[in-house]
Amino acid sequence: LRSVGIIGTGKYVPEKILTNQDLEKIVDTSDEWIVSRTGIRERHIAAPDEATSDLAYKAALNALESAGMSAEDLDLIIVATITPDMAFPSTACLIQDRLGAKKAAAFDLSAACSGFVYGLATATNFVQTGMYNNALVIGADCLSRITDYTDRNTCVLFGDGAGAVIVGEVPEGRGFKAFDLGAEGAGGAHLYIEAGGSRLPASVETLESKKHYIYMNGREVFKFAVRVMGTATEKVLSKAGVDKKDIDLFIPHQANIRIINSAMERLELPEDKVVINVDRYANTSAASVPLALVEAQETGRIKEGDTVLMVGFGGGLTWGASVLVW
Ligand code: ACO
Repeated sequence: LRSVGIIGTGKYVPEKILTNQDLEKIVDTSDEWIVSRTGIRERHIAAPDEATSDLAYKAALNALESAGMSAEDLDLIIVATITPDMAFPSTACLIQDRLGAKKAAAFDLSAACSGFVYGLATATNFVQTGMYNNALVIGADCLSRITDYTDRNTCVLFGDGAGAVIVGEVPEGRGFKAFDLGAEGAGGAHLYIEAGGSRLPASVETLESKKHYIYMNGREVFKFAVRVMGTATEKVLSKAGVDKKDIDLFIPHQANIRIINSAMERLELPEDKVVINVDRYANTSAASVPLALVEAQETGRIKEGDTVLMVGFGGGLTWGASVLVW
């Protein structure tokens, strides 16, 4: 099998920033509550005329540029998102057209906050086997569009953004060493959007009862997150034959600083080996892990040969972990 890794990276976040102080004016909350419970200080919010594909497109252009590739070279486009522009065409098809990636196959992948790592695993398998030479994998979400800004339990947690990578062949010894993907569908009822699908199509009633917004049982999701951050990490490290002492950089899903801290303790990792940007972006769902990865790379925190651990968890419930030698 070919060695497959990341050969280009890009990101984009909308310009508008919503701070905790802004939220204090909208709902009954405080900067102190939000920072102490979540670590979040501000988040980026898409403009009214911006949709997920707009963020994803800009991140994709950056990734292509950093890989020195043209869109016409792309074989496959995967967009991990739970906030596609519309039910169909897929956001990946919208991006394929806008980039002019004429020969690329394109599809969306739905695994909420784990979506990017699911996408990396999917793309890696296509390239490893030789079916394709490369893939553009984008994690992009506009959670602001499915957030109820009268519900203080959820509206302080989410933000918008996009991260993109090009997956392709890398020299032997480098690239992805292992993935661990999983799902616990039984926990799906802790985090969902009830209406707008085939079970409960959009209607005046569903709009009035706010069933098009995220429902979350925060405590249950929190417990799940802490548990699977531990188990998924152990499994993926063992599959890759890597000891936790040899992790150079840990890139966790950015949902809550307390979840990240508990994973850091379990892995016995110092803060300089962990990427944390939840304070500036909040939880951007599928964009969270790639935004952290791309920021780490842009700020010189990832060097050639580094062992990078990425772990996502979220709706489904799902998780995805990977070990990559950069
Ligand atoms: N401001 C002030 N008070 C608040 C706020 C707020 N923004 N939100 C909730 N509260 C109140 C609650 O009403 C509750 O009050 P009560 O005790 O009178 O009922 C109190 O604060 C404490 O609530 P808890 O649920 O105990 O707070 P907790 O410390 O568990 O933190 C949080 C809540 C931040 C949501 C946490 O549970 C969490 O981060 N869960 C995980 C969420 C997550 O990771 N989701 C990821 C997936 S998202 C996706 O896939 C799209």
